[in-house]
Amino acid sequence: MLQGKRILVGISAGIAAYKSVFLVRLLKKYGAEVKVVLTPSAHDFVTPLSLATLSGHPVLSEFTVSKEGGEWNNHVAHGLWADAMIIAPATANTMSKMVNGAADNFLLACFLSAKCPVLIAPAMDLDMYKHGSTRENLAKLEEFGHYIVPAESGSLASGLSGEGRMAEPETILEHLRSVLFPTTNLRGKSILITAGPTREAIDPVRFITNHSSGKMGYALAKRAVQLGMEVHLVSGHTYLSQPEGLSSFTLINNANDMFEACSAIHPSVDALIMSAAVADFTPVSKSEQKIKKGEGDMSIQLTRTKDILSELSKSKNDKVHVGFAMETQNEIENAKSKLERKHLDFIVLNSLNKKGAGFGVDTNLVTIIDKDNNLQESELKSKDDIALDILLKLDTYFETA
Ligand code: CTP
Repeated sequence: MLQGKRILVGISAGIAAYKSVFLVRLLKKYGAEVKVVLTPSAHDFVTPLSLATLSGHPVLSEFTVSKEGGEWNNHVAHGLWADAMIIAPATANTMSKMVNGAADNFLLACFLSAKCPVLIAPAMDLDMYKHGSTRENLAKLEEFGHYIVPAESGSLASGLSGEGRMAEPETILEHLRSVLFPTTNLRGKSILITAGPTREAIDPVRFITNHSSGKMGYALAKRAVQLGMEVHLVSGHTYLSQPEGLSSFTLINNANDMFEACSAIHPSVDALIMSAAVADFTPVSKSEQKIKKGEGDMSIQLTRTKDILSELSKSKNDKVHVGFAMETQNEIENAKSKLERKHLDFIVLNSLNKKGAGFGVDTNLVTIIDKDNNLQESELKSKDDIALDILLKLDTYFETA
């Protein structure tokens, strides 16, 4: 759920720091890359060794790595590295410094440098939590655009009972999820996504295929899961690992297998994204035995495969259908004609002429074209971010639902 996300966890000096060890563990479990920053006094509550082992990165605490060598920890780089920063526990003292822009420890310097969303999970005794200055600091931090994960009620380190306990790691994770992946109309909707190449067998050893790596389709599946969708992935052979959290995964060989798998799933979904590179032709007959080379040349007779999008459009009803177009010339025109021919709601045009876009690479540059002729051209970005753009476009089709 957090694959590819970089999270900076800041721990200040409160007894609740022990819970942040679990938080780090949980973030890792869900696939995030995690770095931990401790305030100097937090060392009295948790050990850098545990946190470094769990996070897989050395714990940061000092501005300098070695005073003799003049090596320093770059707080700006760490602040900018993170996709989100979580300060848990945030003590009254740390929050007061955060409000006033103090930077007398490494955690505060990272906080001031962070451009990402910052989540703050306060923890303190009940009277400190109720105090006017704490309330004002919390309000100010919210005003600055940070996210507060409110403290909960329960027994406190002082022996008293009341509001001030740091939220549980699972609750902090839930807040993080809603900050990183805003709720959309897609939550709870089901989708069929196809990915990767097909293999059309010539004989038991040879097949016809294409350059598709499956990266775009897998990025879509991963993102759709993160947005709370029920995701069915039908995939050709790729070198990618199966995304977590899928409702089903079907591995197929050829275009006909893909057609059959899609036909079985299609009736139950709300949306379809065909990002697979499906072969348009397949050998008329597959030799049962390995074909031996004889004298001279040989030719293979090919026949058309079924066009899956066109076939499924016959039972489209109110489902949203999205296709891809991979073009090398007259790109927009060709994409528009595919959009019409295949009865799509919108099409994602990949241009093979653009550097950094297309097969095998981690980035892409696409133009989304819809039925109403709206064109949305992306900049060159990761396939992960392109996937989000495509899903946010899909989201608009469910707005009034
Ligand atoms: N597609 C499909 N079934 C096929 C071939 C393609 O459903 N047998 C889908 C692809 O997954 C893609 C869209 O149709 O979403 C366009 O694929 P593309 O290969 O660009 O277009 P083709 O229809 O194959 O046309 P051409 O090869 O002439 O460009």
